[in-house]
Amino acid sequence: MTKDQIYKYFADKIYEKSGIHYPETNYYQLDSRLNALTKYLDANSLEEMFQKFKAHPSQELLNYLIDLATNNETSFFRDRSPFHAIVEMAKEAKKTTTSSLQPFRVWSAASSNGQESYSILMALKEKAPEVFSGGGMKLLATDIKQECLNRTSEGFYNHLEVQRGLPAALMIKYFKKMEDERWQAKPELRDLIKTEKLNLFADSYNVDKMDVIFCRNVLIYQTMENKIEIVKKLERCLKPGGYLILGSSENLMGISENFERERIQDCTCYKIPAVTSAASVSA
Ligand SMILES: C[S@@+](CC[C@H](N)C(=O)[O-])C[C@H]1O[C@@H](n2cnc3c(N)ncnc32)[C@H](O)[C@@H]1O
Repeated sequence: MTKDQIYKYFADKIYEKSGIHYPETNYYQLDSRLNALTKYLDANSLEEMFQKFKAHPSQELLNYLIDLATNNETSFFRDRSPFHAIVEMAKEAKKTTTSSLQPFRVWSAASSNGQESYSILMALKEKAPEVFSGGGMKLLATDIKQECLNRTSEGFYNHLEVQRGLPAALMIKYFKKMEDERWQAKPELRDLIKTEKLNLFADSYNVDKMDVIFCRNVLIYQTMENKIEIVKKLERCLKPGGYLILGSSENLMGISENFERERIQDCTCYKIPAVTSAASVSA
């Protein structure tokens, strides 16, 4: 087996299980990831690791491979404007919602280590506290990587992580300094987050209808065909009039025409019109 054939075997496996696409031009990005797998399997070479992997590709090993394949780059208040936009959305939803007992539902799909979820909650606590009364709000954080979800529920962040985007005033208000110098999100935030392992590449998503879905910086790793399928499934998870928010370098061009593009607080948001959404729900 040549090195490229081995890379192709793993790139295909990663794609088959997660939709994460490593084209041949990006095989170099697999280098350090497959080195980690070589160590994990206590093998002395890439070839030996490949043979061991192929002999027993257990679920645990496949999960480990997918975990290695993911890029978990994130930070607090990443790109800022989505967190201003969600404040507007929450205020509007609170005004227009028919039942005061209906919660405002937000989903951070591909939530990584939770900074996005905590940023959403802090933005709402600071600028739209009314959303926590009545039916309140519910935040679902999902990711393909279990370790990310564990970190999200525990809410511990080290010195470098809190320095990336978290204003000092919010850090002091919503996080507690631990003896080991890490900071832990306080229960008033932690208790509002429900985590769940969810692969966006799965056939369907078993989640409640959402007011807002953050699906940022994850579609970039998928092929065009998969992006179309994932956005179709996300659309089905939105309430009529609900919003999808993508990463700053992502858009729906060539992916879906079912959304209305709206600029809210400098953030490009994709709104599912009430009529189309209602039609797709009943379909
Ligand atoms: C670059 S991070 C983005 C995190 C956050 N949304 C942000 O914008 O800061 C991408 C996340 O997507 C997750 N991911 C990758 N493929 C996925 C899939 N098929 N289903 C669910 N999550 C996936 C990764 O584990 C990673 O945590």
